[in-house]
Amino acid sequence: LGYFTHDPSFGTTASCESEITFIDGDKGVLLHRGYPIEQLAENSNYIETAYLLIHGELPNAEEFATFSNIIRRHTMINESLKKFFDGFRHDAHPMSMMMGVVGSLAAFYHDGLNMNDEEHLMVSAHRLISKLPTIAAACYKHSIGEPIVYPRNDLDYCENLLYMMFSVPCEDYVVSPIAAKALNLLFILHADHEQNASTSTVRLVGSTGANPFACISAGIAALWGPAHGGANEGVLTMLDEIGSVENIPKFLEKAKDKNDPFKLMGFGHRVYKNFDPRATIIRKVCYEVLEETGTQDPMFELAMKLEEIALKDEYFVERKLYPNVDFYSGVIYKALGIPVSMFTVMFALARTSGWVSHWLEMMADPKGRIGRPRQLYKGSPKRDYVSLDER
Ligand code: CMC
Repeated sequence: LGYFTHDPSFGTTASCESEITFIDGDKGVLLHRGYPIEQLAENSNYIETAYLLIHGELPNAEEFATFSNIIRRHTMINESLKKFFDGFRHDAHPMSMMMGVVGSLAAFYHDGLNMNDEEHLMVSAHRLISKLPTIAAACYKHSIGEPIVYPRNDLDYCENLLYMMFSVPCEDYVVSPIAAKALNLLFILHADHEQNASTSTVRLVGSTGANPFACISAGIAALWGPAHGGANEGVLTMLDEIGSVENIPKFLEKAKDKNDPFKLMGFGHRVYKNFDPRATIIRKVCYEVLEETGTQDPMFELAMKLEEIALKDEYFVERKLYPNVDFYSGVIYKALGIPVSMFTVMFALARTSGWVSHWLEMMADPKGRIGRPRQLYKGSPKRDYVSLDER
């Protein structure tokens, strides 16, 4: 083994020091800058939580107003960026468009970007938080063949996102306060989660000194996988496939079969081994949203039944597999009229505040070095080259 330890999948390795988020997986505790997620979910809003993650303290009224204004001011995207969308097929997955278009922002904000200037880095962070909803809504509009809707800066962050997604030129559109409130809460719950795969990716790419928009594009790529953020889309697809309560046992058997790649989507977590505190909040909100929106969704009933049966099953009990944050988030997004293909995009928008906070923290670390994992070499020992005619 030599000088380094072998820790496949980083099960026991701390890759950095951080002051942003604390998780106690055994006790189901999640704190942002010391504040419990339950209290933030109850009292805060997404933009305030983003400020907290970035700056380390809750803002006072003046700081909040200034930060909100900055975030509103950067919502526009360069007109020529709109041409990118025309290059995608209408059925391109919105996450693939997000990766491409967010990465392309590096081309718009590269010259003059001084990576040693804290203010320059902060402006990049603001731009990312502000512009991603505009890009996300444009991805959605492209997929349904409607013109892109420009942001309206009199609206707050979540209202603006709903407005850009669902309003149609020449028609009045009023943002539903229920939808904006629910979205706000879901975004707080998804804002940060310490060194998960996408945040670690952002840090690793960032450690090379790469452009911030390229770092976040890499984070979006990591988030898309079904084991990570793609799980929210996966849950809905799975529930659709299960179809009805009678089929639950069959699918549980598939999930337990080690020769079958099928996993129960929305179940299990690397860190939480008792419960995911975000899932507890989201389950309650799910009831509220369905009631407030007057939605009777048989999928929610199915999800609850699936949870009940799985939590009594020896396989899931033994392995401490519980519903995670994504088990119920899709049901809420669906009730709000957000299409399934956009679920992981919603997660990406929310996680952007976490990604940029970690990137800023890493960039400010004077001891920071390029991330460079080692490996255990298992290949051939040294041997001599054999020429082609002798092989
Ligand atoms: N269905 C069936 N079996 C499972 C599941 C599942 N969802 N999750 C874990 N297991 C089994 C796994 O096969 C292993 O069994 P054994 O000990 O017999 O080999 C055992 O439970 C321990 O799991 P693990 O593979 O060590 O877990 P991990 O920490 O490597 O993976 C996970 C965590 C979330 C990727 C995984 O549980 C999973 O794929 N879940 C479904 C996808 C999902 O819901 N992801 C969203 C995560 S939360 C949102 C986010 O942060 O992105």
